[in-house]
Amino acid sequence: MTLEEARAALHTARRVAVLTGAGVSAESGIPTFRDAQTGHWARFRPEDLASPGAYRRDPNMVWEWYAGRYRDVTRAQPNKAHHLLALLEREKGDGFFLATQNVDGLHARAGSERLVELHGNLSTARCEACGTVAPLPAPDTFTPPPTCPLCGSRMRPNIVWFGEFLPELALEAATRAFQEAEVALIVGTSGQVYPAAGLALETRRAGGVVIEVNPDETELTSSLTHSVRDVASKGLAALMGEA
Ligand code: OAD
Ligand code: ZN
Repeated sequence: MTLEEARAALHTARRVAVLTGAGVSAESGIPTFRDAQTGHWARFRPEDLASPGAYRRDPNMVWEWYAGRYRDVTRAQPNKAHHLLALLEREKGDGFFLATQNVDGLHARAGSERLVELHGNLSTARCEACGTVAPLPAPDTFTPPPTCPLCGSRMRPNIVWFGEFLPELALEAATRAFQEAEVALIVGTSGQVYPAAGLALETRRAGGVVIEVNPDETELTSSLTHSVRDVASKGLAALMGEA
């Protein structure tokens, strides 16, 4: 499929599902996970920070890392890619669905509403005892770990860690949207973390068109219909005719 055909398919589709990963926020200055030089996982092993075991061993260290990321994303701004996806949602209306693996909250800040955050959110915490989810105070006004507003117990980052299950309803809604989509866009993800990466294949299996936007080849590339080899902002602009 050529770029022109991909653009036409996106233009005429009534049902569009989008999966985003860390690459969509790279142009907002937020590091990805697996980029060899700058990614989080170039410096840390995921299991030392993003796992229940790591949190049991050293909750303060894990909290410090998440509090630092929370501070960084609060200072960052949504970029053109986030804004273009919010625009695409306004164009497609009810037929639009966005599933993100990102925990930075930038899609919501850009105005996306038909949105599920499959891996949680940096700006909230969850009570370890009663499960209450509450927003964190402003980054410079609190010292982690936060305590639950209802029961006073310690709260944990509201993030899905390695070895944990994704929120069931969010994953079900995303799976349905990707099965029904005529066109799926896979933007800025290495496609290595399941079940999120499997969403692309749901659309493909159901006979839909799947278009990737990524400067590099990914694990998913060979299974998809078309790849736009560019950064998220430019790739989406090219696909949406907004260049
Ligand atoms: P990765 O770091 O694995 O992949 C980022 C992807 O973005 C790579 O394929 C890059 O080529 C691409 N990329 C880099 N800059 C880009 C740009 N400007 N525009 C578009 N693409 C760009 O991040 P994810 O795929 O999101 O999970 O990782 C998936 C999950 O693994 C994350 O949600 C996180 C991580 O461990 C948890 O923390 C639970
Ligand atoms: Zn509680």
